[in-house]
Amino acid sequence: MGKFVKGTVVGKRRWAERLYSLQVAAEVVPFHAGQFTKLALDINGEMVGRAYSFINAPGETPLEFYFIEVPGGLLTQRLAVLEAGDAVWVAPQAAGFLTLSEVPNAKHLWLLSTNTGIAPFLSILKTEEPWQRFERVVLAHAVRYADELANGETIRDFAQQHGEQFRFVPFVSRADTNFALRARIPETIADGRLEAKAGVALAPESSQVMLCGNPDMVRDTTEALLVRGLKKNRRRDPGHITVESY
Ligand SMILES: Cc1cc2nc3c(=O)[nH]c(=O)nc-3n(C[C@H](O)[C@H](O)[C@H](O)COP(=O)(O)OP(=O)(O)OC[C@H]3O[C@@H](n4cnc5c(N)ncnc54)[C@H](O)[C@@H]3O)c2cc1C
Ligand SMILES: NC(=O)c1ccc[n+]([C@@H]2O[C@H](COP(=O)([O-])OP(=O)(O)OC[C@H]3O[C@@H](n4cnc5c(N)ncnc54)[C@H](OP(=O)(O)O)[C@@H]3O)[C@@H](O)[C@H]2O)c1
Repeated sequence: MGKFVKGTVVGKRRWAERLYSLQVAAEVVPFHAGQFTKLALDINGEMVGRAYSFINAPGETPLEFYFIEVPGGLLTQRLAVLEAGDAVWVAPQAAGFLTLSEVPNAKHLWLLSTNTGIAPFLSILKTEEPWQRFERVVLAHAVRYADELANGETIRDFAQQHGEQFRFVPFVSRADTNFALRARIPETIADGRLEAKAGVALAPESSQVMLCGNPDMVRDTTEALLVRGLKKNRRRDPGHITVESY
């Protein structure tokens, strides 16, 4: 297959000022939940492609992506104005290692994200594997403002289907709410608030942690977890922290 196949936008949703989901019909090679592909547009005669995680589960159609319009961003300001019926190019072959096949077994799975970094975790949680392999699954989603806590229906579906096995911990860092932690993820690991809110202990004996989103969050959260005795997960040296930076 070529570098890109032609896809068609079949749906679009605007969640907040700069946050969008795009549903795309395109023929892609089977992928693993947690992987990303590339979306591309022809911009002044040049194919400009960027990486986006699948939100849909493998085998589910249409494909779905969740993105933030970056101010001045070359591709995202154009993706944001696409409408149903418009063409978008999609790389047929997925890539990436933020998948459960990279994660050793443990009692508890922690999925910690900022903003659009929740995307690969939604795909993973739509599959059977996390629910079969882990006693508790904690999903944390950290955003600046409450309206950026998108994909609420999907998260409520997980809660409904999996009850006590699933814990959702929202973070809203720049406004007071009556439901979210007003903080950054790393500080709540250090002071115990994340565990308290999740009702699950975070410890190397029982925990696997996947991180996705803002590169600074990934760095700072990794440091906070290292302090707690967890270590980075590497192919040849299994540990507890598996990451992907946007
Ligand atoms: C493995 C991987 C998976 C990704 N998955 C997603 C995804 O599912 N959803 C998504 O929205 N993005 C995702 N990204 C980021 C995406 O690939 C692009 O970098 C982003 O959309 C900006 O593209 P652009 O052409 O508009 O900006 P550009 O013109 O390329 O860059 C403008 C500037 O924006 C910065 N930037 C990149 N991403 C962000 C961001 N999220 N917030 C603020 N600034 C940013 C860049 O560092 C750069 O300095 C992923 C990146 C990687 C590496
Ligand atoms: N590839 C990239 O270059 C890339 C990718 C993603 C984001 N970003 C950066 O993020 C900005 C906007 O992104 P966004 O709107 O998605 O918001 P964001 O800044 O990523 O904020 C989302 C959440 O992450 C928190 N956060 C920020 N830095 C953190 C850190 N070091 N440790 C833990 N949590 C942290 C924020 O808390 P606070 O409210 O306390 O800041 C907020 O709750 C951009 O200006 C860019 O600098 C860059």
